Amino acid sequence: MPRDTASLIVMNDTIKTILSRRSVSKLSHPAPSSKELKMILKAASSAPDHGSLRPFRFIVFEGEQKLRFAKVLVEALRNRAESKGSNLTEGQLKKENAKFERAPTVVAVAAKIDVYSKIPEIEQLLSAAAAVENLILAAKSLNYDSMWRTGEATYDSYIKKAIGLEENDHIVAWVYLGTDSSGNDEPRDPSVTDLVTFWEDNT
Ligand SMILES: Cc1cc2nc3c(=O)[nH]c(=O)nc-3n(C[C@H](O)[C@H](O)[C@H](O)COP(=O)(O)O)c2cc1C
Repeated sequence: MPRDTASLIVMNDTIKTILSRRSVSKLSHPAPSSKELKMILKAASSAPDHGSLRPFRFIVFEGEQKLRFAKVLVEALRNRAESKGSNLTEGQLKKENAKFERAPTVVAVAAKIDVYSKIPEIEQLLSAAAAVENLILAAKSLNYDSMWRTGEATYDSYIKKAIGLEENDHIVAWVYLGTDSSGNDEPRDPSVTDLVTFWEDNT
């Protein structure tokens, strides 16, 4: 399909990075090195932040710790099922246990909510979401792929506690990081025609 002329005229490296990002459900090694991850998290923490609250937290899971956390995910799933009086199948337990195997690195991004701030909670949450997008785009700019995931565990108090959060805080993403072995890196060319209007005062 021919790319429209606007994209051809103004495409630069930043826009190419944004358009090339796509979610990859199974990520392989390599994942960002510790130096690269530090830079990626600096980029993430540079997200717009009303009131300079720095309302984002990044909890990194790598190697052995990923395996250990899988046990916490399974335990939390068991607790949720028990509280609903439902039974879990072997398949459900296996799936939960394998979640963190979908990528070499997982970063939980949380909104650390300052309940006493005059900045509304929703804005603190939005800032953490902006940090997620910065994180995955910074990773993409260093040639790493990602996927922003959530799921039931995201909203589970047991999980929040296990990663050092308080009840008022919110996990906004489990960012899976690594490399797309398919190497599909073609920038996308989404149409925005149906999404955009130019307001005119016709009164
Ligand atoms: C807040 C949020 C939570 C998401 N949670 C999940 C999820 O748990 N599982 C999933 O398959 N996709 C989830 N997605 C969607 C994917 O990250 C991705 O955006 C979607 O599959 C579209 O693919 P693309 O990013 O390549 O356009 C979530 C997206 C957002 C913004």
